[in-house]
Amino acid sequence: MTEIKSYKDLLIWQKGFQVVIAVYKLVKSFPQEELYALTNQIKRASVSIPSNIAEGYGRNREKSFNHFIDIARGSLYELETQLLLSKELEFVTDNGLFNEILNLIEEESKMINSFSRKLKTANHYSLITNKKIMASKNINITLKVWRQKNAKAKGSMETYKLDNVSTDSSFLEMMDQLNEQLIEEEKDPVAFDHDCREGICGMCSMYINGRPHGPDKLITTCQLHMRSFNDNDTIYVEPWRSVAFPVIKDLVVDRSAFDRIQQAGGFISVGTSGNTVDANSIPVPKDDADTAFDNATCIGCGACVAACKNGSAMLFVSAKISQFALLPQGRVEAKRRAQNMVAQMDAEGFGNCTNTGACEAECPKGITLESIARMNREYLHAKISHEK
Ligand code: SF4
Ligand code: FES
Repeated sequence: MTEIKSYKDLLIWQKGFQVVIAVYKLVKSFPQEELYALTNQIKRASVSIPSNIAEGYGRNREKSFNHFIDIARGSLYELETQLLLSKELEFVTDNGLFNEILNLIEEESKMINSFSRKLKTANHYSLITNKKIMASKNINITLKVWRQKNAKAKGSMETYKLDNVSTDSSFLEMMDQLNEQLIEEEKDPVAFDHDCREGICGMCSMYINGRPHGPDKLITTCQLHMRSFNDNDTIYVEPWRSVAFPVIKDLVVDRSAFDRIQQAGGFISVGTSGNTVDANSIPVPKDDADTAFDNATCIGCGACVAACKNGSAMLFVSAKISQFALLPQGRVEAKRRAQNMVAQMDAEGFGNCTNTGACEAECPKGITLESIARMNREYLHAKISHEK
C-alpha cells in the first residue's frame, strides 16, 4: 500500500481528478446555449467529486470524512445522470471520450463504496489517511471539579490529583477512577449524570475546560477519550451554567425545562385504533426526510444552552420543531406546535438567540442554525395566520 501523505495520494481522489479533466474536454463542444445550463451543472458536479474527497480528508474525524465521501458519491451519480441526458439530447460529439468517462465513473463508484466501508472502522481510517493511532499510555492529571452539596449550597472548585489514567479510557471512566479514589479516601464521590455512555441519551453534560462536552467536535462527554489530554494537564470540569438548568448536585443539573418544552408540542397525534396508516407509506422527498432525520438526532443534552452567552434553547427547540416540520405527519399540528413550544421556552427563562453560532459549534449532533431559521419561519407563519 502506498504511503498516504496527503489527500492527493488517495486513489479515489486521483480517479475523481481524472474524471474532471475528461469532463471538461468533453463539454467543450457542447452547444453554446447550454453553457449556463447543463454544461455548467456537469462541470460543477464533476469538480465536486475530488473537492469533497479532499475536504473530507482535511477534517480530522472519520465521521466527517464519510459525510464528505457521501457527497462525492452523490455528485458522481449526478454527473452520470447529466452525461446520459446530454447524450440523449445529442450534445456529445466525441463518443470515445464519453464512454471513457462512463467507465471512469463506474470505477470511481466502486472505489468510493469500498473506501467508505473501510472508513467505518477507526483503524482503517488511520491507515487510509495515515493519521496516527496514538499508543496507549498512562498520564497524571490535575482535576479542578465543581463541587456543590445541593441546589441551595454555594459551590466551589476543588482540586484533585489523579495518577495513572490510561489514555484509552473515556472521560467518564476517568471520572469513575476519580470517584474510586475519593471513596477509598472516605470522601464524597463526585455526582455526575450518565446513562448510555454511547452518545445517545444526552445525560453526560459537562463543561470541560470551558467547552460543553470538551475539546473534541461532534461528540458527547462520554465519547471523549483521555487521549485528547496530555500528561500533567489541568482539566476544569463544571456543570452546565444556565438559569434554566439549576445545579442539583456537583455536575448534575436539572434539565426538566427541556421535558416541559417537549410536552408543549414536541409530538404528533396519531390514532392508535389499529387502522393507523404506516408512516412509510406516505412518500416524502429524500432531502426533506434526511433533514428531518438530522434534526431528530438531537439528544436534548443542553450543550447548545450551555454554549450560548444568552442561555438560549433555540437550537434544541428548533431541532424538535424541524424534525416534524418537513414531514406530512408533522404539518397537522405545525402551527400549534411552533407557538406552544416557543411560549414554553420563554416561560422556562431561556434567553434569546443573537446568531453567534456558539450553539451550532458545540452541538454534538451537528444541528445547524438553519433549524433556527426554519423555526422562526414556522413561528411567524403560525402567528400571522392567527390559528391556534
Ligand atoms: S441541539 Fe445539539 S446541543 Fe442542543 S440539545 Fe440537541 S443535541 Fe444537544
Ligand atoms: S451518557 Fe448518554 S450521551 Fe453520554
